[in-house]
Amino acid sequence: MNFRQIKEQIKDKMYFRKKRLQARIPLPFPMVINIELTNKCTENCIWCPRDSMTRERGFMEFDVFKKIIDEIPRDQRLRRLYVHWMGEPLLHPEFLKFIEYAKSEDKAESIVIATNGFPLSKDVMKRMIELKIDELFVAIDAANPGSYSEFKNTDHFNTIKNNVIKAIALRKEMRSNLPFIRVKFLETDHNLREKEFFRLQWRGIADSVFFEKDLSIWDGKSEKVNKYIKSMGCYLKHYGDLAIRYPCDRLWYLLAVQWNGIVSPCVCDWNGENGIGDIREQSIEEIWYSDILMSYRSHHINRTFEKVKLCSVCARWGTRNMGDWLTKHKRKALSRPQIGKG
Ligand SMILES: C[S@@+](CC[C@H](N)C(=O)[O-])C[C@H]1O[C@@H](n2cnc3c(N)ncnc32)[C@H](O)[C@@H]1O
Ligand code: SF4
Ligand code: SF4
Repeated sequence: MNFRQIKEQIKDKMYFRKKRLQARIPLPFPMVINIELTNKCTENCIWCPRDSMTRERGFMEFDVFKKIIDEIPRDQRLRRLYVHWMGEPLLHPEFLKFIEYAKSEDKAESIVIATNGFPLSKDVMKRMIELKIDELFVAIDAANPGSYSEFKNTDHFNTIKNNVIKAIALRKEMRSNLPFIRVKFLETDHNLREKEFFRLQWRGIADSVFFEKDLSIWDGKSEKVNKYIKSMGCYLKHYGDLAIRYPCDRLWYLLAVQWNGIVSPCVCDWNGENGIGDIREQSIEEIWYSDILMSYRSHHINRTFEKVKLCSVCARWGTRNMGDWLTKHKRKALSRPQIGKG
């Protein structure tokens, strides 16, 4: 682990894993926003519910993106702006225009983009280097073409591997160290056999080889995902022991915006069935303290999780939570910020 990674990890701990977030609740504005530029994709990963979506597919309009960025207060910069959610962000025909705007406005400490790497062309990479995008996550998840197509249903493995190697070479040629490039491997029972080989394949090439243990069932409402994941040893080891349920901290720091401007309270809302507002008609601040989101928070604190359809059977809260802090500080957790106070 290098110095930058250690610094980022410490920052994350400070922000999300308790003290910093606790000290700032009620947050005047979310700390993290995921923006879905599109919900279309080139791959069909076995663990991703995207292909079962019944919501419309499309591309975000620039004005919607601009409105989100413009509304972020300068004194409440986001900790992270994720320019992806469901789908493959690099497929957006105006991808560069979007990130150029986000970068020029400087409203986030860190701009992070997750890609499957297939559409990662030289031109796009060159511009991301010039813009100094903070992080690029490339989800590869396999160490050879055979298993790649087993997990992701395409024969894109070699193209993606070459794209990433060329991207890193270009960054070196341009004498830059941004974006920080992580190659990602989502651990399942079926790819563990090649984990070490994957590590060796990328060691000394990518900035970081990231093994994701957080194999999730999203909101637990995708039959495809449940069937594939729920009985896996990897999943049970990570999520198996959740005897007591706590309020989920995500409701206190994150929002996710669908490509059409509808806002979801959490990235687990993959099918967009739990919209709590619309960026085209409302402000983020309004949505952040809307009655509906406040009622979700309240149900979590009162342990009536079953009343929140999105959260009823989700397990993600269990791996990164604040324990009982939100319940113990119920009044604070269910209050609204006073204007002018951060
Ligand atoms: C939904 S994808 C969207 C961005 C891009 N298409 C990609 O794959 O990176 C965002 C991230 O979700 C992760 N992901 C998908 N399904 C998952 C699951 N069941 N559990 C944990 N992570 C998952 C992917 O590995 C990827 O890093
Ligand atoms: S995980 Fe990413 S690459 Fe895979 S299907 Fe989902 S959106 Fe596409
Ligand atoms: S409980 Fe699950 S679905 Fe609900 S906000 Fe937390 S992570 Fe999202």
